[in-house]
Amino acid sequence: MKQLVIKAFGDANQLVLAEASSPALATNEIRVKMHYAGVNPVDAKTRAGLGWGAEAIKDRLPWSPGFEVMGTVLEAGSEVNIHQVGDRVFGLLSGAGYSKQLVVPANSLLRVPKDVSDEMAAGLSLAGLTAWQGLTEHGLLNAGERVLISAAAGGVGHLAVQLAKDLGATVVALASPGNHDFLHGLGADEIVDYRDDQQLAALAPVDLLLDLMGGASGRALLSYVKPNGRVVTVPTITAEEVIAAAEAKGLKATGMLKHIDNQQLASLVRAVAEQRLRVEVSRVYPLAEGADAHRQIETGHTRGKILLQG
Ligand SMILES: NC(=O)c1ccc[n+]([C@@H]2O[C@H](COP(=O)([O-])OP(=O)(O)OC[C@H]3O[C@@H](n4cnc5c(N)ncnc54)[C@H](OP(=O)(O)O)[C@@H]3O)[C@@H](O)[C@H]2O)c1
Repeated sequence: MKQLVIKAFGDANQLVLAEASSPALATNEIRVKMHYAGVNPVDAKTRAGLGWGAEAIKDRLPWSPGFEVMGTVLEAGSEVNIHQVGDRVFGLLSGAGYSKQLVVPANSLLRVPKDVSDEMAAGLSLAGLTAWQGLTEHGLLNAGERVLISAAAGGVGHLAVQLAKDLGATVVALASPGNHDFLHGLGADEIVDYRDDQQLAALAPVDLLLDLMGGASGRALLSYVKPNGRVVTVPTITAEEVIAAAEAKGLKATGMLKHIDNQQLASLVRAVAEQRLRVEVSRVYPLAEGADAHRQIETGHTRGKILLQG
């Protein structure tokens, strides 16, 4: 069974296809043929040795990245009654999604509804849960409020735009001009080129900033938040500095780490099935070209999601 692994932290060339043994199946597990795995910035940051992800696996190399998967059940353990052979399943894993086959607890993956494509299901879990939890659990977004979403055209951002609209908020989205039509199509109310100081200066203040850039960009956006407004800064590596700057301005600020919640994920995939939420997949790479996919995600200018095909 082939999987993409890193043997040491480093650049994208560290990702190599390796032969791995296929583990035996426990009674509560399923064996899944991976069709698609989502590629996320955390995959590349961890591969490079950065952040909490690298800290967690540094003593367990070689490591196979990949937290978001979609595939078909090949085999089910004797106690599994929620999935059958042939079911299309998807969800958020703790790693190793970049593998032709996976063995996981049956209850870690959900059934893909018939009206949802393999690709949309594959790109939903990590980015969708982050967007939802950022807006609701941490951002406490209410209908009628204004929310500013940076990196609005990216994996998390393009889902956050749609979810915030669905919650009844007015959505202000930041993106380069090439993504403005895309964001109009997703329902953003105001779309601003983040490199255009005049457009930025004309922005009316917002109740909530969903900061998907972090660092200096996140700090600069604090001036568009209303007094007593709220800030959720999503990139973990720079969270402390953005929170400190926000608190110095009297804003309520928090970082976040998305968590697995399969009830929330079921709601998100229902929204996709009902065409209230769309996962934009801008490119699919063969598994063997995982290094190219990592180079793309590291540009910081990916539209929507990119996937690996198993
Ligand atoms: N804490 C957590 O649990 C958690 C979970 C998920 C993600 N994250 C983090 O959240 C961040 C966003 O993730 P993602 O998957 O959405 O990333 P992504 O898909 O790589 O984001 C790409 C987008 O960023 C936009 N962008 C680049 N520079 C920008 C700028 N200066 N201002 C505004 N937009 C800019 C690009 O738009 P243009 O091409 O138009 O410039 C592009 O569409 C990453 O740092 C990721 O690691 C954290």
